Amino acid sequence: MSGDRTLVSRVLDTRRKTSRLSEPLSAEDLVVQSMPDASPTKWHLAHTTWFFERFVLKPLGIAPVDASYDYLFNSYYEAVGKRHPRNKRGLLTRPPLEEVLAYRTAVDARIADLEGSSRLAEVAFALELGKHHEEQHQELILTDIKHLLGCNPLLPAYRPGRPADHASHASPPTAALGWRSFGEGVAAIGARGEGFAFDNERPRHKVYLAPFSMATRLVTCGEYLAFMADRGYERPELWLSEGWAWVQATGKGAPLYWEMENAKAPRIFTLHGEQALVPSEPICHVTYFEADAYARWAGARLPTEAEWEVAAEQSLEARYGPPERRPMAIKEGNFVEDGRLHPAPASTSSKTSGELMQMLGDVWEWTSSAYLPYPGFAPLAGAFGEYNGKFMINQMVLRGGSCATPRDHVRTTYRNFFPTNAEWQFSGIRLARDE
Ligand code: AVJ
Ligand code: FE
Repeated sequence: MSGDRTLVSRVLDTRRKTSRLSEPLSAEDLVVQSMPDASPTKWHLAHTTWFFERFVLKPLGIAPVDASYDYLFNSYYEAVGKRHPRNKRGLLTRPPLEEVLAYRTAVDARIADLEGSSRLAEVAFALELGKHHEEQHQELILTDIKHLLGCNPLLPAYRPGRPADHASHASPPTAALGWRSFGEGVAAIGARGEGFAFDNERPRHKVYLAPFSMATRLVTCGEYLAFMADRGYERPELWLSEGWAWVQATGKGAPLYWEMENAKAPRIFTLHGEQALVPSEPICHVTYFEADAYARWAGARLPTEAEWEVAAEQSLEARYGPPERRPMAIKEGNFVEDGRLHPAPASTSSKTSGELMQMLGDVWEWTSSAYLPYPGFAPLAGAFGEYNGKFMINQMVLRGGSCATPRDHVRTTYRNFFPTNAEWQFSGIRLARDE
């Protein structure tokens, strides 16, 4: 499960990975807030540290590094107290970066001291939650910094250079789009007893599924270009009313990060800088509205989260056996550790034909399911109850993780969630249809 490593060492390992993500950035990159929904990297570095200080160290009676940090780095916990407004995080030029880095080091040392402590059990859950929280912020650092760099006319690369396969094939071929059918029935979804899961993945419960089929791969940029060429953004009949209002209000005609100045040679901004659009790559950074309109244009629909989970579970089971006998870490999928930091084309190898591909990694897949409590949902006690439950309104569920997600962070039961107009996440499209 968690391997032989102790909880404390796994937490410290995750903490180091967060710090490493900030290394390619300049001091200026770390402070600016590109929009209200995106936070500066410096804030992410401090907030994740505050989480451990407030929920692990404070209950043990360990004094805070600086009393003002509760106000500055509390994200949204009403139970903890008042906080600096989210949309003004970019104004925090103080404390300076060195102080935030020293804060990280000081809190890490205090976490390290917990190894072998008789009081470790009291805070074990908070430590584990802090680790998964820190992993969520690792992905947010990448999505937020991509947004910031993408606002700069110089289109700077977060990490210069191209992934190896990019240099060798200008445009890898597109895998054929297949459909896999799933029969009618009652299925169980949600986290089982063992292993870490967020409260929003519980309880496991039964759902009825009508027969459906799931596309064997993600929707590609090439396919999305066909939707655009067919005047997809100009036809209200393809859009939800709110989606159409969003198109009208924003004047959108292409996904975020697309440069269509030369329509014959579109370019897209990536964490490796701007590059020629690769038609076989999965479409990324689309809103729910765009995903939904594309699906309607394609004569299909988005999967529900239950359909997605059942399909993902069945396809993993076919290849690796039942969950009890399956190693926790599934090695497939394009995750942050692969360093590509961009979705990759589906495999065209005949071995994978008919199999569901790209269920894990590459892009978060929009589902048609509203982010709601599962039947019998109970939020965690105390301030942790604010972690997920209070956001269960006006957001949609996304599944499967992305090229910016740490590999071991995601699960088939994992429920990510964002509002319908969020476009800066690594969010893409998989189609489903009724049988
Ligand atoms: C699950 C990604 C929507 O961005 O607020 C971070 C993750 N929760 N800190 C978010 C999260 C607490 C959450 N998302
Ligand atoms: Fe957070």
